[in-house]
Amino acid sequence: MTTEPATAVLPPRRGSSDGGPYRIALVCLGNICRSPMAEVVLSSMVEESGLADRVEVVSSGTGDWHVGKPMDRRAAATLTTHGYDATRHRAQQFHPTWHDDHDLVLVMDSSNLADVGPGEEGRVRMFRDFDPRAEPGSGDGADRDVPDPYYGDDDGFEHVLGIVRRTSAEIVRQLGQLG
Ligand code: 4NP
Repeated sequence: MTTEPATAVLPPRRGSSDGGPYRIALVCLGNICRSPMAEVVLSSMVEESGLADRVEVVSSGTGDWHVGKPMDRRAAATLTTHGYDATRHRAQQFHPTWHDDHDLVLVMDSSNLADVGPGEEGRVRMFRDFDPRAEPGSGDGADRDVPDPYYGDDDGFEHVLGIVRRTSAEIVRQLGQLG
């Protein structure tokens, strides 16, 4: 018996790897709060771990309202306070072809999961399936949601950043073992 919470395991590279990077797409609803925060933090950890040549991280939203816009100013402020660069993000919309173009699609909540569709088996997961502190799932994924901070106050963005940091650390740990 182990007391460590079990996290999901990254799917292997697609098919016969062409030597290109392992491609991860992070998806939320608007692509101005949660998935951009995750993109900035995960990319930063990938770089710090010396994996920048082997891993590519992008993000998108299932909705199109904010396409071309920078991050929500509260999301950007939270990242900036913690030393991250939030200036480069521009929102884009998820397209079904992203399933074929990525090794892994990580969604922020269960409605995103429904909106992106099934994709290839094992390649669409909840982001928090990799959260070392997530409770065991009940099946529908809702207990693995990264709460949407858009309509809340600033504390919600700090809360999201905490989830994103510990979950990204686990993803990077596994990326280092992928080969
Ligand atoms: P996100 O948050 O999905 O984390 O980027 C939202 C951003 C915008 C809206 C909803 C959620 N919106 O309705 O415009």
